[in-house]
Amino acid sequence: MLYICRMPTERERLLRHLAPTSDSPIGLNIARAEGVYMFDPDGRKYLDLIAGISVSNVGHRHPKVVEAIKNQADTHLHLMVYGEYVQSPQVKFADQLAAVLPDNLDSVYFVNSGSEAIEGAIKLAKKATGRAGLMSFENAYHGSSNGALTLMGNEEFKHPFYPLLPETSVIRHNNFDDLKNITEETAAVFLETIQGEAGIRVPSKEFMQALRNRCTQTGALLVLDEIQCGFGRTGKMFAFEHFDIVPDILLLAKGMGGGMPIGAFIASKELMSTLSHNPILGHITTFGGHPVSCAAGSACLSVIQEEALIESVPAKEKLFRELLNHPEIKEIRGKGLMLAMQLRDSEQLFPAIDRCIENGLVTDWFLFCDSAMRIAPPLTITDEEIAEACSIINESIQN
Ligand SMILES: Cc1ncc(COP(=O)(O)O)c(C=O)c1O
Repeated sequence: MLYICRMPTERERLLRHLAPTSDSPIGLNIARAEGVYMFDPDGRKYLDLIAGISVSNVGHRHPKVVEAIKNQADTHLHLMVYGEYVQSPQVKFADQLAAVLPDNLDSVYFVNSGSEAIEGAIKLAKKATGRAGLMSFENAYHGSSNGALTLMGNEEFKHPFYPLLPETSVIRHNNFDDLKNITEETAAVFLETIQGEAGIRVPSKEFMQALRNRCTQTGALLVLDEIQCGFGRTGKMFAFEHFDIVPDILLLAKGMGGGMPIGAFIASKELMSTLSHNPILGHITTFGGHPVSCAAGSACLSVIQEEALIESVPAKEKLFRELLNHPEIKEIRGKGLMLAMQLRDSEQLFPAIDRCIENGLVTDWFLFCDSAMRIAPPLTITDEEIAEACSIINESIQN
């Protein structure tokens, strides 16, 4: 008997050997990506309205980022754990970041991811204040490590992993009354400056200023997570600039590396130095601040500045708001190119997302809001591409 063996497809191999994160991955096979488009192996293109969840702010494979990666790969790769040697990509990138940040955010600790930035900030806050209390907000998402999960503002997602860190509490977002829960026992309050996975929630300026004041009064450190909303996405380099406040610790990742893995927690030199003694090496990382990631991040920040991407964001937001005009759209929330398009419920949204993908546009929903569509393209998206995106989305919505 003749058996014809068929090679398993890549999708079948994904399901067989890659650890699953859900029962229903999007499962698109992407062979190449450029600018705002991704291409499957047959050359079919998809307009990317997710951008790796706010990673590809300068578009996929920006030529200046790719050139910086290649140059650094030709010079040296990893040399030594973070902080021991002088490595010029790290020094240059830290200089650039300090130059675009307020004076009290002048000391950059590079890590590998957003969750690691959270972990570093938790340790820094506990060590610097000598307190244990940590506070965060309903529907907050700060990552998947144990510390980050402790700060998560959604019981359903974190409950199976208890016990987590002690002395933590979750308060209501944008609620003035709950600020009284911040006390002299609180080491730090963690907040996404604009909440992402909650379905894009923008707090009021008054609330942000009251939060800043309450933290200052009680000596609690204000930690702003700009892992999703940083690097120009909201129409400012950093979203806290919308609210005229400055955090004690700033957290960055995602859009920071132009597509390479990197994150950072940033504070004043005085605050940060508490991690380097009693004991020495209070926080260390092998790959944090990898030279290739720093070179890519440095090029990415230069691109954001040189191509005036931030300045282009408000007009692009306006165009999305004008052209997304299907009568079933309940609301468009957010700032800049960090938007959520609200539909009735998930039963209306999920088929709309499927139709978008069939028609060459990739989008999704939010972890804690499954009735709103994510609109977060690369900041390089053109007006024509916005018009194309909105027409596909409007056509995808059914009653
Ligand atoms: C606001 C926010 N904080 C933290 C994280 C965690 O970052 P990472 O996945 O790099 O650990 C994310 C990831 O989606 C995020 O959106």
